[in-house]
Amino acid sequence: MMNPMRTAITDLLGIEHPVIQGGMQWVATAPLAAAVSEAGGLGIISALTQPTPDALREEIARARELTDRPFGVNLTFLPAITPPPYEQYVAAIIDSGVRIVETAGAKPTEAVAAFKAAGVTVIHKCTSVRHARSAEAIGVDAVTIDGFECAGHPGEDDVGGLVLVPAAARALGVPVIACGGIADGRGLAAALALGAEGIAMGTRFLVTAESRVHDDVKHAIVAGSETDTRLVLRELRNTSRVADNSVAREAAEVLAGGAEFSEVAHLVAGARGRSVWETGDTEAGIWTAGQSMGLIDDIPACGELVPRIVAEAEGVLTRLTR
Ligand SMILES: Cc1cc2nc3c(=O)[nH]c(=O)nc-3n(C[C@H](O)[C@H](O)[C@H](O)COP(=O)(O)O)c2cc1C
Repeated sequence: MMNPMRTAITDLLGIEHPVIQGGMQWVATAPLAAAVSEAGGLGIISALTQPTPDALREEIARARELTDRPFGVNLTFLPAITPPPYEQYVAAIIDSGVRIVETAGAKPTEAVAAFKAAGVTVIHKCTSVRHARSAEAIGVDAVTIDGFECAGHPGEDDVGGLVLVPAAARALGVPVIACGGIADGRGLAAALALGAEGIAMGTRFLVTAESRVHDDVKHAIVAGSETDTRLVLRELRNTSRVADNSVAREAAEVLAGGAEFSEVAHLVAGARGRSVWETGDTEAGIWTAGQSMGLIDDIPACGELVPRIVAEAEGVLTRLTR
């Protein structure tokens, strides 16, 4: 029988297992990305976590010291009053010889052109078939489709992965990576069954030994269930799925009352979220987490987690085909 874990994605990226760690602001630095890559998956460094393009160059060099295996860099295009110097981050990624990029957020037309001209493989992450098609049209090599279950930005369509993944796989010529709500081998097997060529995960990799967030946050996720997230910023069409806590509830209530962003800015401030990761005080601000929280009940090293997920998926596929 052919190896079901060898897919268009493992071939495209030159990795052993079809398991990707999605870019995560503040969390996805070189040690986590390298640990995932060393485990045979694809680790991804978050570009904008680095304060400057030069700091990103150093972070990429740090990952190279930790692994000889392929890893990627995530570049997220979000609305901002003062946007980061995107062109300089693109240049830092290209000059550093990174071979794989995950883009996310607004349609990255110019960045994709620059990456493709430099021979970089681009995976665009999005939350609708419509956006996936338009990413394919600008030349990306693969698309990660993030279902409504996901941590971070699920978009405004509220379509879960069970529908979105096969709908994208049917509509696209490029390989599709399933993302959102996946935390174990059952999710990997299901993703392959739905027509995806691999999976990407955020929350699951947040809760690993190599993730830099405070242990108390990891334990809170282990203790949490699939109902312990909530959506904020809906009214501003910038929906985010975050852990359900007093700050998220307050922000959601204020906005539901018709408030402007300026009235919740102090609640959703990045600095407060960062303090959650650093201090472990899960009520200090809003912090990103997905519904897969309900499936996570340990804090493994990536070197244990990735093979375990693959073995579990293989077990599921064997059971189903017996
Ligand atoms: C703490 C955290 C930070 C994230 N930051 C980013 C980001 O900066 N850019 C991005 O494209 N996705 C970001 N994501 C989303 C993940 O890459 C991934 O798409 C998502 O977590 C998938 O859903 P899951 O958590 O259910 O696996 C973040 C996720 C988490 C948990």
